[in-house]
Amino acid sequence: MQISAPMPVPQKAQTATHHARHLSTSEATKESLFADTPTVIVPDTESPVGCSPSSATIAETIALARGHLDHPNAQEPLDDFEDDISDDSQLSSIVPDYVFGFDLDGVFLRGGHVIPEAKEALRILNGDNDEGIKVPYIFLTNGGGKTEKERCLDLTRQLDVPVSPEQFICGHTPMSEMGTEYHTVLVVGGEGEKCRHVAENYGFKDVITPGDLIKWKPSVCPFRKLTDEEYANSRTRDFTDVNIEAIFVFADSRDWASDAQIILELLMSKDGRMGTVSETFTEGPPIFFAHNDVVWSTSYDLTRYGMGALRIMIEALYKESTGKAIDVTSYGKPSKATFDYATRVMQQWRKDLFNDPAPPRMVYFVGDTPESDIRGSNEYDKHSESQWYSILVETGVYEPGTEPMYKPRRTVANVLEAVRFGMEREREKRAGKVPEV
Ligand code: G3P
Ligand code: MG
Repeated sequence: MQISAPMPVPQKAQTATHHARHLSTSEATKESLFADTPTVIVPDTESPVGCSPSSATIAETIALARGHLDHPNAQEPLDDFEDDISDDSQLSSIVPDYVFGFDLDGVFLRGGHVIPEAKEALRILNGDNDEGIKVPYIFLTNGGGKTEKERCLDLTRQLDVPVSPEQFICGHTPMSEMGTEYHTVLVVGGEGEKCRHVAENYGFKDVITPGDLIKWKPSVCPFRKLTDEEYANSRTRDFTDVNIEAIFVFADSRDWASDAQIILELLMSKDGRMGTVSETFTEGPPIFFAHNDVVWSTSYDLTRYGMGALRIMIEALYKESTGKAIDVTSYGKPSKATFDYATRVMQQWRKDLFNDPAPPRMVYFVGDTPESDIRGSNEYDKHSESQWYSILVETGVYEPGTEPMYKPRRTVANVLEAVRFGMEREREKRAGKVPEV
Protein backbone atom coordinates (compact mmCIF):
# COMPACT_ATOMS: atom_id res chain seq x y z
CA MET A 1 0.00 0.00 0.00
CA GLN A 2 1.28 3.45 -0.90
CA ILE A 3 2.04 6.06 1.74
CA SER A 4 -0.26 9.03 1.24
CA ALA A 5 0.35 12.65 2.15
CA PRO A 6 -0.57 13.66 5.72
CA MET A 7 -4.30 14.17 6.10
CA PRO A 8 -5.71 17.47 7.30
CA VAL A 9 -6.19 17.54 11.02
CA PRO A 10 -9.85 16.79 11.75
CA GLN A 11 -11.69 18.96 14.24
CA LYS A 12 -13.20 17.63 17.36
CA ALA A 13 -16.93 16.90 17.12
CA GLN A 14 -19.06 19.24 19.17
CA THR A 15 -21.60 16.55 19.98
CA ALA A 16 -21.82 15.87 23.68
CA THR A 17 -20.79 12.43 24.81
CA HIS A 18 -21.14 10.92 28.24
CA HIS A 19 -18.24 9.62 30.21
CA ALA A 20 -17.76 5.94 30.63
CA ARG A 21 -18.03 4.48 34.10
CA HIS A 22 -14.75 4.62 36.06
CA LEU A 23 -14.02 1.65 38.29
CA SER A 24 -10.91 1.51 40.40
CA THR A 25 -8.96 -1.74 40.55
CA SER A 26 -9.86 -2.13 44.23
CA GLU A 27 -13.57 -1.46 43.64
CA ALA A 28 -13.88 -3.82 40.71
CA THR A 29 -15.91 -6.84 41.74
CA LYS A 30 -17.17 -9.65 39.57
CA GLU A 31 -20.65 -8.14 39.64
CA SER A 32 -19.53 -4.63 38.81
CA LEU A 33 -17.38 -5.91 35.97
CA PHE A 34 -20.33 -7.64 34.37
CA ALA A 35 -22.49 -4.49 34.15
CA ASP A 36 -23.15 -3.79 30.48
CA THR A 37 -21.84 -0.21 30.49
CA PRO A 38 -18.75 1.25 28.80
CA THR A 39 -16.16 1.05 31.56
CA VAL A 40 -12.63 2.16 32.28
CA ILE A 41 -10.64 0.39 34.95
CA VAL A 42 -8.48 2.94 36.73
CA PRO A 43 -5.43 2.04 38.82
CA ASP A 44 -5.58 2.74 42.56
CA THR A 45 -2.21 4.43 42.58
CA GLU A 46 -2.21 8.18 43.09
CA SER A 47 -0.81 9.16 39.72
CA PRO A 48 -1.44 6.47 37.17
CA VAL A 49 0.45 6.51 33.92
CA GLY A 50 -1.22 8.73 31.38
CA CYS A 51 -4.00 10.84 32.71
CA SER A 52 -6.09 12.06 35.58
CA PRO A 53 -9.41 10.37 36.27
CA SER A 54 -11.33 13.48 35.22
CA SER A 55 -9.76 13.73 31.80
CA ALA A 56 -11.07 12.04 28.72
CA THR A 57 -8.67 9.18 28.53
CA ILE A 58 -8.02 7.23 25.43
CA ALA A 59 -9.43 4.23 27.21
CA GLU A 60 -12.66 6.02 27.93
CA THR A 61 -13.25 7.37 24.47
CA ILE A 62 -12.62 3.97 22.94
CA ALA A 63 -14.93 2.38 25.50
CA LEU A 64 -17.72 4.69 24.40
CA ALA A 65 -16.97 4.19 20.71
CA ARG A 66 -17.15 0.43 21.02
CA GLY A 67 -20.36 0.73 22.98
CA HIS A 68 -21.83 2.70 20.07
CA LEU A 69 -20.50 0.16 17.57
CA ASP A 70 -21.78 -2.92 19.37
CA HIS A 71 -25.12 -1.39 20.42
CA PRO A 72 -25.95 1.21 17.77
CA ASN A 73 -29.56 1.56 18.93
CA ALA A 74 -28.89 1.49 22.65
CA GLN A 75 -29.59 4.47 24.90
CA GLU A 76 -26.61 6.44 26.08
CA PRO A 77 -25.50 5.40 29.54
CA LEU A 78 -27.20 7.39 32.28
CA ASP A 79 -25.76 10.83 32.70
CA ASP A 80 -24.38 10.27 36.15
CA PHE A 81 -20.84 11.18 35.30
CA GLU A 82 -19.31 14.50 36.13
CA ASP A 83 -17.87 15.85 32.92
CA ASP A 84 -18.38 15.85 29.25
CA ILE A 85 -15.64 14.71 26.92
CA SER A 86 -15.98 17.82 24.81
CA ASP A 87 -14.81 19.84 27.84
CA ASP A 88 -11.55 17.99 28.04
CA SER A 89 -8.74 20.38 27.46
CA GLN A 90 -6.16 17.66 27.61
CA LEU A 91 -6.96 16.43 24.16
CA SER A 92 -4.32 18.10 22.08
CA SER A 93 -5.16 20.47 19.28
CA ILE A 94 -3.02 18.18 17.15
CA VAL A 95 -5.25 15.20 16.70
CA PRO A 96 -3.44 12.26 15.23
CA ASP A 97 -5.02 10.41 12.36
CA TYR A 98 -2.91 7.38 13.19
CA VAL A 99 -3.28 4.78 15.91
CA PHE A 100 -1.33 1.94 17.47
CA GLY A 101 -2.48 -1.64 17.61
CA PHE A 102 -0.66 -3.87 20.08
CA ASP A 103 -0.27 -7.53 20.63
CA LEU A 104 0.00 -8.35 24.37
CA ASP A 105 2.03 -11.48 25.14
CA GLY A 106 5.62 -10.93 24.10
CA VAL A 107 5.07 -7.17 23.67
CA PHE A 108 3.75 -5.87 27.02
CA LEU A 109 3.84 -9.08 29.04
CA ARG A 110 6.02 -12.12 29.22
CA GLY A 111 5.11 -15.04 31.45
CA GLY A 112 2.61 -12.79 33.24
CA HIS A 113 5.23 -10.11 34.03
CA VAL A 114 5.36 -6.64 32.55
CA ILE A 115 8.14 -6.02 30.04
CA PRO A 116 10.28 -3.16 31.48
CA GLU A 117 9.71 -0.62 28.68
CA ALA A 118 5.93 -1.16 28.55
CA LYS A 119 4.84 1.56 31.00
CA GLU A 120 6.99 4.21 29.39
CA ALA A 121 5.54 3.34 25.97
CA LEU A 122 2.00 3.89 27.27
CA ARG A 123 2.96 7.07 29.10
CA ILE A 124 4.16 8.55 25.80
CA LEU A 125 0.98 7.54 23.97
CA ASN A 126 -1.14 9.04 26.74
CA GLY A 127 0.27 12.49 26.10
CA ASP A 128 3.64 12.59 27.85
CA ASN A 129 5.45 13.63 24.67
CA ASP A 130 6.87 16.87 23.23
CA GLU A 131 3.71 17.69 21.30
CA GLY A 132 1.22 16.65 23.95
CA ILE A 133 -0.45 14.30 21.49
CA LYS A 134 -2.65 11.52 22.78
CA VAL A 135 -2.44 8.62 20.40
CA PRO A 136 -5.21 6.04 20.62
CA TYR A 137 -4.35 2.39 20.92
CA ILE A 138 -6.08 -0.93 21.02
CA PHE A 139 -4.97 -4.40 22.10
CA LEU A 140 -5.40 -7.36 19.79
CA THR A 141 -4.42 -10.46 21.71
CA ASN A 142 -4.85 -14.08 20.77
CA GLY A 143 -4.75 -14.86 24.46
CA GLY A 144 -7.93 -15.28 26.44
CA GLY A 145 -9.48 -17.70 28.85
CA LYS A 146 -11.02 -14.86 30.86
CA THR A 147 -13.65 -12.31 30.00
CA GLU A 148 -12.33 -9.19 28.32
CA LYS A 149 -13.24 -7.34 31.55
CA GLU A 150 -11.23 -9.62 33.81
CA ARG A 151 -8.27 -9.42 31.41
CA CYS A 152 -8.60 -5.65 31.48
CA LEU A 153 -8.54 -5.57 35.28
CA ASP A 154 -5.35 -7.65 35.27
CA LEU A 155 -3.71 -5.34 32.75
CA THR A 156 -4.68 -2.17 34.57
CA ARG A 157 -3.08 -3.57 37.72
CA GLN A 158 0.04 -4.68 35.85
CA LEU A 159 0.59 -1.59 33.71
CA ASP A 160 -0.75 1.02 36.12
CA VAL A 161 -2.71 2.67 33.33
CA PRO A 162 -6.44 3.14 32.81
CA VAL A 163 -7.63 0.49 30.37
CA SER A 164 -11.10 -0.21 29.09
CA PRO A 165 -12.34 -3.73 28.31
CA GLU A 166 -13.50 -2.24 25.04
CA GLN A 167 -9.85 -1.72 24.09
CA PHE A 168 -9.42 -5.48 24.09
CA ILE A 169 -10.06 -7.77 21.23
CA CYS A 170 -9.25 -11.32 22.33
CA GLY A 171 -8.94 -14.33 20.08
CA HIS A 172 -12.30 -15.55 21.32
CA THR A 173 -14.10 -12.17 21.09
CA PRO A 174 -15.72 -13.01 17.69
CA MET A 175 -17.22 -16.15 19.26
CA SER A 176 -19.53 -13.82 21.18
CA GLU A 177 -21.51 -13.47 17.96
CA MET A 178 -22.30 -17.21 17.89
CA GLY A 179 -24.11 -17.47 21.22
CA THR A 180 -27.49 -17.58 19.50
CA GLU A 181 -26.41 -19.91 16.69
CA TYR A 182 -25.54 -22.93 18.83
CA HIS A 183 -27.40 -23.97 21.96
CA THR A 184 -25.48 -26.89 23.48
CA VAL A 185 -21.73 -26.48 23.13
CA LEU A 186 -18.52 -27.98 24.46
CA VAL A 187 -16.06 -25.35 25.68
CA VAL A 188 -12.43 -26.40 25.98
CA GLY A 189 -9.37 -24.78 27.60
CA GLY A 190 -8.46 -22.30 30.28
CA GLU A 191 -8.29 -22.51 34.05
CA GLY A 192 -11.06 -24.20 36.00
CA GLU A 193 -14.50 -22.93 35.14
CA LYS A 194 -13.36 -19.62 33.62
CA CYS A 195 -14.08 -20.43 29.99
CA ARG A 196 -17.53 -21.75 30.86
CA HIS A 197 -18.22 -18.33 32.38
CA VAL A 198 -16.82 -16.51 29.35
CA ALA A 199 -19.05 -18.57 27.05
CA GLU A 200 -22.12 -17.99 29.22
CA ASN A 201 -21.29 -14.30 29.27
CA TYR A 202 -21.23 -14.39 25.46
CA GLY A 203 -24.78 -15.74 25.51
CA PHE A 204 -24.28 -19.49 25.06
CA LYS A 205 -27.20 -21.15 26.83
CA ASP A 206 -25.96 -24.68 27.52
CA VAL A 207 -22.21 -24.86 28.09
CA ILE A 208 -20.55 -28.21 28.72
CA THR A 209 -16.92 -28.68 29.75
CA PRO A 210 -14.70 -31.75 29.46
CA GLY A 211 -14.98 -31.99 33.27
CA ASP A 212 -18.75 -32.51 33.02
CA LEU A 213 -18.20 -35.42 30.62
CA ILE A 214 -15.49 -36.99 32.80
CA LYS A 215 -17.70 -36.64 35.88
CA TRP A 216 -20.48 -38.43 33.96
CA LYS A 217 -18.21 -41.30 32.88
CA PRO A 218 -14.61 -41.28 34.16
CA SER A 219 -13.78 -43.97 31.59
CA VAL A 220 -14.12 -41.34 28.82
CA CYS A 221 -10.57 -40.33 29.80
CA PRO A 222 -9.04 -43.36 31.53
CA PHE A 223 -5.92 -41.62 32.85
CA ARG A 224 -7.57 -38.47 34.13
CA LYS A 225 -8.74 -38.07 37.69
CA LEU A 226 -10.62 -34.87 38.49
CA THR A 227 -9.35 -33.02 41.55
CA ASP A 228 -11.86 -32.49 44.36
CA GLU A 229 -12.37 -28.92 43.22
CA GLU A 230 -12.83 -29.91 39.57
CA TYR A 231 -15.26 -32.62 40.61
CA ALA A 232 -17.28 -30.18 42.69
CA ASN A 233 -17.38 -27.57 39.91
CA SER A 234 -18.20 -30.00 37.10
CA ARG A 235 -21.93 -30.39 36.52
CA THR A 236 -23.77 -33.63 37.13
CA ARG A 237 -25.66 -34.68 34.03
CA ASP A 238 -26.56 -37.73 31.99
CA PHE A 239 -25.10 -37.20 28.52
CA THR A 240 -26.69 -40.29 26.98
CA ASP A 241 -29.19 -38.25 24.97
CA VAL A 242 -27.37 -34.93 24.66
CA ASN A 243 -26.32 -33.66 21.23
CA ILE A 244 -23.34 -31.31 21.37
CA GLU A 245 -23.81 -28.88 18.49
CA ALA A 246 -20.39 -27.24 18.35
CA ILE A 247 -16.95 -27.35 19.95
CA PHE A 248 -15.22 -24.11 20.94
CA VAL A 249 -11.58 -24.08 22.04
CA PHE A 250 -11.57 -20.82 23.99
CA ALA A 251 -8.11 -20.96 25.55
CA ASP A 252 -5.06 -23.19 25.77
CA SER A 253 -5.84 -26.71 26.93
CA ARG A 254 -4.58 -27.57 30.43
CA ASP A 255 -4.81 -31.30 29.66
CA TRP A 256 -4.21 -32.10 26.01
CA ALA A 257 -4.72 -35.86 26.41
CA SER A 258 -8.24 -35.64 27.87
CA ASP A 259 -9.31 -32.69 25.76
CA ALA A 260 -8.07 -34.32 22.53
CA GLN A 261 -9.77 -37.60 23.44
CA ILE A 262 -13.12 -35.87 23.93
CA ILE A 263 -12.80 -33.51 20.94
CA LEU A 264 -11.94 -36.38 18.58
CA GLU A 265 -14.77 -38.56 19.85
CA LEU A 266 -17.25 -35.78 19.17
CA LEU A 267 -15.81 -34.92 15.76
CA MET A 268 -16.24 -38.55 14.71
CA SER A 269 -19.65 -38.93 16.40
CA LYS A 270 -23.18 -39.01 15.08
CA ASP A 271 -24.64 -35.56 15.73
CA GLY A 272 -22.28 -34.75 18.59
CA ARG A 273 -23.56 -37.50 20.87
CA MET A 274 -21.01 -39.15 23.15
CA GLY A 275 -20.63 -42.89 22.66
CA THR A 276 -21.67 -42.84 18.99
CA VAL A 277 -19.58 -43.20 15.84
CA SER A 278 -20.63 -41.80 12.49
CA GLU A 279 -20.42 -44.20 9.56
CA THR A 280 -19.51 -41.43 7.18
CA PHE A 281 -17.57 -39.14 9.55
CA THR A 282 -19.58 -36.23 8.23
CA GLU A 283 -22.05 -35.89 11.09
CA GLY A 284 -19.90 -34.49 13.87
CA PRO A 285 -20.17 -30.93 15.23
CA PRO A 286 -18.06 -28.08 13.82
CA ILE A 287 -14.97 -27.02 15.75
CA PHE A 288 -13.77 -23.44 16.32
CA PHE A 289 -10.41 -22.37 17.76
CA ALA A 290 -9.92 -18.94 19.33
CA HIS A 291 -6.60 -18.61 17.51
CA ASN A 292 -3.96 -20.54 15.69
CA ASP A 293 -0.67 -19.72 17.43
CA VAL A 294 1.48 -22.84 17.26
CA VAL A 295 3.95 -21.39 19.77
CA TRP A 296 3.88 -18.48 22.21
CA SER A 297 6.23 -16.66 24.50
CA THR A 298 6.32 -17.35 28.27
CA SER A 299 8.83 -16.73 31.06
CA TYR A 300 10.74 -19.82 29.87
CA ASP A 301 13.68 -19.21 27.54
CA LEU A 302 12.23 -21.11 24.60
CA THR A 303 8.75 -20.76 23.13
CA ARG A 304 6.03 -23.17 24.28
CA TYR A 305 3.41 -24.97 22.20
CA GLY A 306 -0.01 -23.34 22.15
CA MET A 307 -3.48 -23.73 20.69
CA GLY A 308 -2.34 -24.03 17.09
CA ALA A 309 -0.30 -27.07 18.09
CA LEU A 310 -3.40 -28.70 19.57
CA ARG A 311 -5.19 -27.96 16.30
CA ILE A 312 -2.41 -29.71 14.34
CA MET A 313 -2.64 -32.69 16.67
CA ILE A 314 -6.44 -32.93 16.31
CA GLU A 315 -6.19 -32.71 12.52
CA ALA A 316 -3.49 -35.39 12.38
CA LEU A 317 -5.36 -37.82 14.63
CA TYR A 318 -8.65 -37.24 12.82
CA LYS A 319 -6.94 -38.00 9.50
CA GLU A 320 -5.25 -41.07 10.98
CA SER A 321 -8.57 -42.36 12.35
CA THR A 322 -10.91 -41.53 9.45
CA GLY A 323 -8.73 -41.02 6.40
CA LYS A 324 -10.44 -37.63 6.00
CA ALA A 325 -9.47 -34.03 6.57
CA ILE A 326 -11.39 -32.11 9.21
CA ASP A 327 -12.64 -28.62 8.53
CA VAL A 328 -11.45 -26.28 11.29
CA THR A 329 -12.20 -22.58 11.84
CA SER A 330 -9.62 -20.42 13.64
CA TYR A 331 -10.22 -16.87 14.84
CA GLY A 332 -7.70 -14.41 16.22
CA LYS A 333 -4.70 -13.04 14.38
CA PRO A 334 -3.90 -13.42 11.48
CA SER A 335 -7.57 -13.85 10.53
CA LYS A 336 -9.10 -10.91 8.71
CA ALA A 337 -12.16 -10.82 10.99
CA THR A 338 -10.04 -9.72 13.95
CA PHE A 339 -8.41 -6.87 12.03
CA ASP A 340 -11.77 -5.86 10.55
CA TYR A 341 -13.26 -5.57 14.00
CA ALA A 342 -10.33 -3.50 15.28
CA THR A 343 -10.72 -1.16 12.31
CA ARG A 344 -14.42 -0.70 13.00
CA VAL A 345 -13.73 0.19 16.65
CA MET A 346 -11.13 2.81 15.67
CA GLN A 347 -13.39 4.17 12.93
CA GLN A 348 -16.23 4.60 15.41
CA TRP A 349 -13.80 6.31 17.80
CA ARG A 350 -12.93 8.90 15.15
CA LYS A 351 -16.58 9.38 14.28
CA ASP A 352 -17.58 9.93 17.92
CA LEU A 353 -14.81 12.34 18.73
CA PHE A 354 -14.08 14.18 15.51
CA ASN A 355 -17.15 13.67 13.32
CA ASP A 356 -14.83 11.97 10.88
CA PRO A 357 -16.33 8.79 9.41
CA ALA A 358 -13.04 7.64 7.86
CA PRO A 359 -11.01 4.87 9.46
CA PRO A 360 -7.58 5.89 10.80
CA ARG A 361 -5.15 6.67 8.00
CA MET A 362 -2.37 4.61 9.55
CA VAL A 363 -2.22 1.78 12.07
CA TYR A 364 1.15 0.86 13.53
CA PHE A 365 0.74 -2.73 14.54
CA VAL A 366 3.30 -4.03 17.03
CA GLY A 367 3.71 -7.75 17.64
CA ASP A 368 6.19 -10.46 18.52
CA THR A 369 4.94 -13.36 16.39
CA PRO A 370 5.68 -13.21 12.66
CA GLU A 371 3.09 -15.90 11.82
CA SER A 372 0.14 -14.15 13.47
CA ASP A 373 0.99 -10.48 14.11
CA ILE A 374 3.17 -9.63 11.14
CA ARG A 375 1.39 -11.89 8.69
CA GLY A 376 -2.02 -10.60 9.77
CA SER A 377 -1.01 -6.96 9.63
CA ASN A 378 0.76 -7.27 6.24
CA GLU A 379 -2.12 -9.17 4.64
CA TYR A 380 -4.68 -6.79 6.04
CA ASP A 381 -2.71 -3.85 4.70
CA LYS A 382 -3.22 -5.12 1.14
CA HIS A 383 -7.01 -4.81 1.35
CA SER A 384 -7.62 -2.15 3.97
CA GLU A 385 -8.56 1.47 3.50
CA SER A 386 -6.12 2.24 6.35
CA GLN A 387 -2.43 1.54 6.04
CA TRP A 388 -1.18 -1.14 8.40
CA TYR A 389 2.50 -0.84 9.24
CA SER A 390 3.88 -3.97 10.89
CA ILE A 391 6.55 -3.66 13.59
CA LEU A 392 8.22 -6.74 15.03
CA VAL A 393 9.65 -6.61 18.56
CA GLU A 394 12.43 -8.78 19.95
CA THR A 395 10.89 -9.42 23.37
CA GLY A 396 8.80 -12.47 22.52
CA VAL A 397 8.44 -15.33 20.04
CA TYR A 398 10.71 -13.87 17.35
CA GLU A 399 14.32 -14.89 17.83
CA PRO A 400 16.59 -11.89 17.07
CA GLY A 401 19.02 -12.55 14.24
CA THR A 402 16.83 -15.15 12.54
CA GLU A 403 14.89 -14.62 9.31
CA PRO A 404 11.18 -14.26 10.17
CA MET A 405 8.80 -16.22 7.94
CA TYR A 406 6.71 -13.07 7.46
CA LYS A 407 8.74 -9.90 7.05
CA PRO A 408 7.84 -6.85 9.13
CA ARG A 409 8.15 -3.32 7.80
CA ARG A 410 10.38 -2.62 10.79
CA THR A 411 12.08 -4.60 13.55
CA VAL A 412 12.84 -2.94 16.90
CA ALA A 413 14.08 -4.09 20.30
CA ASN A 414 10.91 -3.48 22.28
CA VAL A 415 7.54 -1.77 22.45
CA LEU A 416 9.00 1.55 23.61
CA GLU A 417 11.18 1.73 20.50
CA ALA A 418 8.17 0.81 18.39
CA VAL A 419 6.16 3.72 19.82
CA ARG A 420 9.04 6.17 19.43
CA PHE A 421 9.64 5.00 15.87
CA GLY A 422 5.99 5.35 14.80
CA MET A 423 5.54 8.75 16.40
CA GLU A 424 8.77 10.09 14.95
CA ARG A 425 7.82 8.80 11.53
CA GLU A 426 4.52 10.67 11.78
CA ARG A 427 6.24 13.83 12.98
CA GLU A 428 8.51 13.72 9.94
CA LYS A 429 5.53 13.29 7.67
CA ARG A 430 3.82 16.29 9.19
CA ALA A 431 7.02 18.27 8.66
CA GLY A 432 6.84 17.37 4.99
CA LYS A 433 9.74 14.95 5.05
CA VAL A 434 9.45 11.65 3.27
CA PRO A 435 9.73 9.07 6.03
CA GLU A 436 11.39 5.71 5.77
CA VAL A 437 9.09 3.21 4.14
O1 G3P B 1 -2.07 -18.01 24.31
C1 G3P B 1 -1.84 -16.69 23.98
C2 G3P B 1 -0.77 -16.54 22.98
O2 G3P B 1 -0.85 -17.54 21.99
C3 G3P B 1 -0.61 -15.21 22.29
O3 G3P B 1 -1.15 -14.07 22.85
O4 G3P B 1 -1.16 -11.61 23.15
O5 G3P B 1 0.67 -12.69 21.88
O6 G3P B 1 -1.59 -12.58 20.90
P1 G3P B 1 -0.79 -12.67 22.16
MG1 MG C 1 2.37 -12.09 21.14
